[in-house]
Amino acid sequence: MKGIILAGGTGTRLYPLTLTVNKQLMPVYNKPMIYYPLSVLMLAGIREILIISTPNSLPLFQQLFGDGRQWGLQFSYMEQPHPGGVAEAFILGRSFLDGEPACLVLGDNILYGDGLGGLLQQAARLQQGALIFGYQVSNPQNYGVIEFDQAGRVLDFEEKPEFPKSHYAIPGIYFYDSQVCDLAATLTPSARGELEITDLNRCYLNRGQLQVEVFGRGFAWLDTGTHESLHQASSFIQSLEERQGLKIACVEEIAYQRGYISSEQLHRLAEPLAKSDYGSYLMQLVNGNTYQTIPARVPVLEAI
Ligand code: TTP
Repeated sequence: MKGIILAGGTGTRLYPLTLTVNKQLMPVYNKPMIYYPLSVLMLAGIREILIISTPNSLPLFQQLFGDGRQWGLQFSYMEQPHPGGVAEAFILGRSFLDGEPACLVLGDNILYGDGLGGLLQQAARLQQGALIFGYQVSNPQNYGVIEFDQAGRVLDFEEKPEFPKSHYAIPGIYFYDSQVCDLAATLTPSARGELEITDLNRCYLNRGQLQVEVFGRGFAWLDTGTHESLHQASSFIQSLEERQGLKIACVEEIAYQRGYISSEQLHRLAEPLAKSDYGSYLMQLVNGNTYQTIPARVPVLEAI
């Protein structure tokens, strides 16, 4: 499976922050926002990744990430000339995917929770149909929303409905089989002029090929599209990182633990960052000065 990070958009809800700087380069506490969706793909075991962004911002991502070799990854880049919708990722990404299944992740979404890596690795084995997720939120009208019947079966989706039919929003991570580019090519722009991911999901639903998994309350799905949510996301990351002494979405750490890079390579990556807290964390990993980690035995409590 290959991965796509959609990191364009206009970021109008974050103005004036995003008047000149791409939203996905904004800090979420101590690292650029795009590190979070990137780490999600890495946790799923995906190493070939396409980054899609605006013509102005794409060179900045190329400067930040290069070809990905330093982290044992392989990055490709593609311009999205205008924000034509989330499903446009599969029009732009057709030659990159070259008939392989895909995981699409939105550049401004943060996912966190015990067991997330295993869940994503399982999702990345998908060969047929599509897999998306649901997450209970207090403000579903800001998202794509799932409509369920009495038995909990999915009936339909609505995009940013004024009167939502459930409180289950769809997080910005989607797994699709190799039909995805052909199905995306059949979509027409919505009233707001975008190729809607909701319409693509409806295609799979109508074919009886859509699976929806609900993330339990032990997971965090944060989006960072407004000043308030960006600030909350930073506070959340800071609180957890300081409490545990472990970093969240530290891409170098994931690469090292997955065996994509050696300790020598990790040392080379850490050196130029050494004056920052992030860099000294990497140095600790190189030197083995970390706490002893015992595998978790207590499953996340889903209902208290
Ligand atoms: P949105 O938050 O819907 O749009 P935006 O980022 O332009 O922000 P705003 O609403 O404040 O103007 O986008 C969700 C994510 O998808 C975000 O990471 C940007 C990305 N995106 C694209 O890269 N291209 C697109 O055409 C769209 C619609 C979104």
